[in-house]
Amino acid sequence: MSSKGDGTRAVRAGLPEPQQYEPTLPGPVFAAHYHLSGEPAGPYTYGRDSNPTWTHLERAIGELEAPDEDVETTVFASGMAAISAVLLSQARSGDAVVLPDDGYQALPLLQAQLEAYGVEVRTAPTGGDAQLAVLEGAKLLWLETPSNPGLDVCDVRRLVEAAHAGGTLVAVDNTLATPLGQRPLELGADFSVASDTKGMTGHGDILLGHVTCRDPELAAGVRRWRKVVGAIPGPMEAWLAHRSLATLELRNERQCANALALAEALAKHQAVSGLRYPGLPTDPSYANAVRQMRRFGSVVSFVLADRETAERFLSALHLVEDATSFGGVRSTAERRGRWGGDAVPEGFIRFSVGAEDAADLVADVEQALATATGES
Ligand SMILES: Cc1ncc(COP(=O)(O)O)c(C=O)c1O
Repeated sequence: MSSKGDGTRAVRAGLPEPQQYEPTLPGPVFAAHYHLSGEPAGPYTYGRDSNPTWTHLERAIGELEAPDEDVETTVFASGMAAISAVLLSQARSGDAVVLPDDGYQALPLLQAQLEAYGVEVRTAPTGGDAQLAVLEGAKLLWLETPSNPGLDVCDVRRLVEAAHAGGTLVAVDNTLATPLGQRPLELGADFSVASDTKGMTGHGDILLGHVTCRDPELAAGVRRWRKVVGAIPGPMEAWLAHRSLATLELRNERQCANALALAEALAKHQAVSGLRYPGLPTDPSYANAVRQMRRFGSVVSFVLADRETAERFLSALHLVEDATSFGGVRSTAERRGRWGGDAVPEGFIRFSVGAEDAADLVADVEQALATATGES
C-alpha cells in the first residue's frame, strides 16, 4: 500500500485479509479472557495483554505512521497514557530528560512525577530548536511539534541528529499533525506518540493514544509498561477509532484547507495580533514546517485585546462551540488563559478548525470579531 495516496491508505489501513462472509472491519471483541488450554501461548490470552480489535487498529496506525517500514504500534487509553508510557518506562533515577517548556499543559505534572523519581528534567522552548542547548548527556529528548497551543515548530531532523550523536533517544508528540501531516519516524525519531483523542479520531467522542516505534526493544518496553499500569483502551473505543481512520484523509484535507482560509482571513483583521498557523508563509514556523510537514494541521491561534474581548468573541460565534480539545469535525475555540497552565496572554484564542464550509466559518468569525470589538 505504500505507493498509494493518503486517501487510499487511510480507507484501507489495518484491514484484515478478506474472508468470505466476514465483515470488512471485524466488530469490537469484548473479552477479559480467551479460551486457553494447556501452556499459555498464542496471541490472545488475557484482556489486559492483547485484544484482536487493538491488533487491527495498531496495524492501521503503523501503516499510516511508517508506510515503508516494519514498525510496532501500541494503543493506550489516552494520549497521556501513551506519553507516560514512553517517559516513565525509559527514565531511571539519575537520568536526565529534556522536555519542551511550551508543550501540552499536563507535561509539568509529568515533570513533577519524574523529579519525584530522581530524574533530572531540563526544559527549553520548542522555537529556535532551543532544546539543543540542554541536550548534553540526556537519556531522552521529548519534542512536541507543532507545539500546543503556541504552534511553534522545531527542526526534528536537526534535533534528532544532535541527540543521536550523544546517545539520546528522541520522542515526538505528533498530536497536532497526525501521521498524515508529519511522520516522526521518517524524520529520525525513535518514538512517534500522539493523543488520538484529537484529529486522528476527529469526532470529539473518544479518548485514545498511541506510541509507534521502529526498534522492537523500545516497542517491547512500551508494551510492557501498558501491561504493568493497565492503561488499556476499551475495545469499543479502539473499534470506533479504526472506523474513524477511514475518513482521516477526507477530514484532514478539509480541516487543513479551512484552517488556512481562516488564518488568511484573520491576518487581514486589525483586532487580531499574534496570529499563528504553520502553513501561513508569513508564520515564524513556516520554514521548518514546509521542510518536514506534509499538511499543516487544523489549529490556528491568535490574540485579541484582552480577556473581555476574547469572551465576547467566543460567545458571539454561532458555528463554533466554546470547548477545549481540538481536531474534531465541528469547530471549537477557547480562551486558553482560563486554564491557567499555558504562558499565553489573557486574550489568547486556540481555534480548532472543523469541516464546515470555509466561507460559512470565515463569515461567522468575522461577524463575531465585529461584535466583540464593537464594530457592528
Ligand atoms: C499535544 C497533546 N499531547 C497530549 C495530549 C493528551 O491527550 P489525552 O487528553 O488524550 O490524554 C493533549 C491533549 O490535549 C495534547 O494536546
